[in-house]
Amino acid sequence: MKIARSILMAIILCFLGQSHTHAEQPLKLEAKESTYQFPFFDTQTPVWSYNGQIPGPVIHGKEGTTLVVDFLNKLQEPSSIHWHGLRIDNAMDGVPGVTQDPVGSGENFIYRLKLEDAGTFWYHPHFNSSEQLERGLKGVFIVEEAEKQPWSRDLVWLMDDWFLQKDGTIYPQFNTGRDLMHDGRWGNVPTINGKFRPEFTVSPGERIRLRLINGANARIFSPHIEGLSADVIAVDGRPVTQIFPLNRFVLSPGNRIDLDVTIPQQTGGKTYIVEDRFSRKAFQLASIVVKSAEPISPPELTPLTEASFIPAQMFENVSVAKTWDLNAIRGGKYGIGWTMNMKLWPDADKADYPLGLPRKIIFKNSSSRLHPMHIHGVFFRVLERNGQKAVESFTRDTVLVGPRESVTIGFVPEHRGIWLTHCHIQSHAEAGMMTTIEVKK
Ligand code: C2O
Ligand code: CU
Repeated sequence: MKIARSILMAIILCFLGQSHTHAEQPLKLEAKESTYQFPFFDTQTPVWSYNGQIPGPVIHGKEGTTLVVDFLNKLQEPSSIHWHGLRIDNAMDGVPGVTQDPVGSGENFIYRLKLEDAGTFWYHPHFNSSEQLERGLKGVFIVEEAEKQPWSRDLVWLMDDWFLQKDGTIYPQFNTGRDLMHDGRWGNVPTINGKFRPEFTVSPGERIRLRLINGANARIFSPHIEGLSADVIAVDGRPVTQIFPLNRFVLSPGNRIDLDVTIPQQTGGKTYIVEDRFSRKAFQLASIVVKSAEPISPPELTPLTEASFIPAQMFENVSVAKTWDLNAIRGGKYGIGWTMNMKLWPDADKADYPLGLPRKIIFKNSSSRLHPMHIHGVFFRVLERNGQKAVESFTRDTVLVGPRESVTIGFVPEHRGIWLTHCHIQSHAEAGMMTTIEVKK
């Protein structure tokens, strides 16, 4: 009896030990110089990549687990990785000078990511970001729901744009006066997963979860699929409060949406064009080609929604804790500075809030440029635009504040630490448009 028991214990311990080492097996991400073949050039384009891939590998994690990432920096300069949208330990947030030291050339850093929320996220450096992202460092991070739904297909589209020169190299100035005076650096080659106008082949009847991520430095996309209806089921990683049809949704740098798309039964042989409609002149991004095959019957499923996450009512009697005025000034290291309350990072007008109390913030754009404002480590709900009630049926982590527009948001600080808050147009952030929200007990 005693022996049997100790054998059983040994087996259990051994089993636990194994699953433990499995969970701890770090995923390796290596930032390095490499090359990438675009279709327009005879030569390879020098890029910076994670693991030699453009874009970086899609990372899959599971809700409720801890994923360990061993980041090795093989670039000639410091770097870091920020996990955009993930609510994790502040020490793992990847912001040099705020949450960690820069990861020097040849050094590594172990990120331990406790995955609290399922959904579509992404990762990118937070050091010399206007150059490092633009040279290719970015990738998608999917946190799978504990319970998987039977989608026929889960498609991930990382949208980006590149500013390529005739000789196939990346235009090597990253914070030009032109970028700074306007809406940052808009490229000349839009890509999806690094491909120019890729074709995706599907079968009639498929029901697809299509995840769109805007990983561009500055370009704003408004994706449209001609002839196909699509529903938005998640924004910035989280299920929406109420599902709504995709109709000129504005995807600014940092934003993600998950779409529910069903390919109708009798469409074998048909091609659907996906285009961008944000710019005055629409242009093709991709195409969806339907195989001439027997239609399958679409899987039955009900996409998740979140009725009670940070509801607008929560903020009804809450006064505004902070108004950040967004504007340009002369000065700073580029001659043009982008300010929040007239201050340039790191000499910023910071906020600090206690844990657990609902807060209201206004981003007030006094300039005529675009500012997609992002807050690390929280989700917020848009409540008002220009002082008028404009409650969104979803939460976000990045909101585009248009020229002369003001946007009121509500959120609840739930994680301790210092959370960066900035414009996601990389050159604006680089020119000063950054601050922090510190959450204390
Ligand atoms: Cu994509 Cu500071 O973030
Ligand atoms: Cu901006």
